[in-house]
Amino acid sequence: MATERDRYSNFDRPPTFDELDAEFNAEMLSPDGALSGGLARPWQDELAQAREEQQTIRSAEVFERAQEVIPGGVNSPVRAYGSVGGTPPFIESAFESIVRDVEGRRYIDLVGSWGPALVGHAHPEVVEAVQRAAESGLSFGAPTVGEVELAEEVIRRVKAIEKIRFVSTGTEATMTAIRLARGATGRDVLVKFAGCYHGHSDSLLAEAGSGVATAGLPGSAGVTRGTSKDTIVVPYGDLAALEEVFEQRGDEIAAIITEAAPANMGVITPPHGFNQAIHELAHRYGALVIFDEVLTGFRVSAAGFWGYDALPGVNGSLNYGNTRQVPNYTPDLFTFGKVIGGGMPLAALGGRRDIMDLLAPLGPVYQAGTLSGNPLATAAGLATLKLATPLVYERLDSVSEVIQNGVREALDSEGVPYALNNAGNLFSVCFGEEPAETGVTNYEQAKSQNKEAYTAFFHTMLAEGIYLPPSPFEAWFISSAHTNEDIARILDALPAAVRAAGAEIM
Ligand SMILES: Cc1ncc(COP(=O)(O)O)c(C=O)c1O
Repeated sequence: MATERDRYSNFDRPPTFDELDAEFNAEMLSPDGALSGGLARPWQDELAQAREEQQTIRSAEVFERAQEVIPGGVNSPVRAYGSVGGTPPFIESAFESIVRDVEGRRYIDLVGSWGPALVGHAHPEVVEAVQRAAESGLSFGAPTVGEVELAEEVIRRVKAIEKIRFVSTGTEATMTAIRLARGATGRDVLVKFAGCYHGHSDSLLAEAGSGVATAGLPGSAGVTRGTSKDTIVVPYGDLAALEEVFEQRGDEIAAIITEAAPANMGVITPPHGFNQAIHELAHRYGALVIFDEVLTGFRVSAAGFWGYDALPGVNGSLNYGNTRQVPNYTPDLFTFGKVIGGGMPLAALGGRRDIMDLLAPLGPVYQAGTLSGNPLATAAGLATLKLATPLVYERLDSVSEVIQNGVREALDSEGVPYALNNAGNLFSVCFGEEPAETGVTNYEQAKSQNKEAYTAFFHTMLAEGIYLPPSPFEAWFISSAHTNEDIARILDALPAAVRAAGAEIM
């Protein structure tokens, strides 16, 4: 039987992939099209070589220095490699699909800066847009044409959005969306799902995924009892529990906040119709839905997971970047981050005009930001979204499918138990008997995975030059800059990594 690797390296592989690949390269190399993610740029090699020759820094040494002056040596917890152990490589540069550490080691990147690098790192068009913006001044604290253009582009893609406000981080976006929902409804209570991560603002840290899950924390110290009292946490996917909460406290609930597709407790495929059902329930009680697309937005389709949900046969079908159709539910507020800033600090909340107009200066809900809508960040975001054509989404889906199949094949052939979940082109794998038996549909199940197996898998892949998320609770991020050669190298690295994972379980 042909393996995914055979199919991949051989021109008899499924025609759709070949066709998409050729089409992708043709478009990316066209004179007026974008430059290919895989196109050689000799100056980068020269730069890398020059740096290599001067190389004196070691990650371990700089990590020690870092720990003296920065808590844990990092500015965001998962970067410290706490759950997988070892020293995090300190990154010096990243081009296209490759990150390079200070010791000159190169890795094929499946983290993508945790999402923003949709078209690969340092795409020349994005870099040029930022350079051009920088030459005109770094920040004005005044309105710019760029932020209007980016707002128009988002609204063109996500039909449910009438107005949008730019902020600097995903945390700020969800925090503001919650304040707005409370202001709009005059109610205090927020419902969230266990294992969903929405940033680190006080009301959202109860049973959060991502770094909170990685560190095995129940929440965070420093959150007041008053704040916790106003947050109700429900198991993801449990409609009966959600209905009960609404029956008991429906008139106090301002909003449900949900990840459009959870990807911070590992990836969870939303049960069929779940997103629609929570909208119907919330609206029946006069509550709003905040659809957090910080991670999924502009990544799983041109219109995020909301656009992906509109596609016929979704949950398994490929996504063709379709923006024409809309699903049969309409979130009241969306939040975005990551891809929308193309690697710069930019995020947003958007939604219905009547709700958005409650924000200052038009309405009574206050929000502001010195660097909100920063001209460099909006330039990077707009350049990235312009590059994110339907063809890019097809490519992401195809590459993601090939890698997912490769992971399944390697695990099956070694007899290692696992569950692999996807949500569009996002996916992650949980090792262990329990996830294999029950599947992983919520936070409790995600926590039952064998974390030592992931650690062994992760370090074997890292040694092979594949840079995966240093936590089993994070998604793998594909970019359109991943070349066929990158994919072949990833597939080649899998068998040894899977054996290492298996040795922890069996
Ligand atoms: C779904 C989701 N919401 C919000 C956030 C917070 O975004 P930021 O890290 O930019 O504050 C994240 C970050 O990973 C996220 O994945």
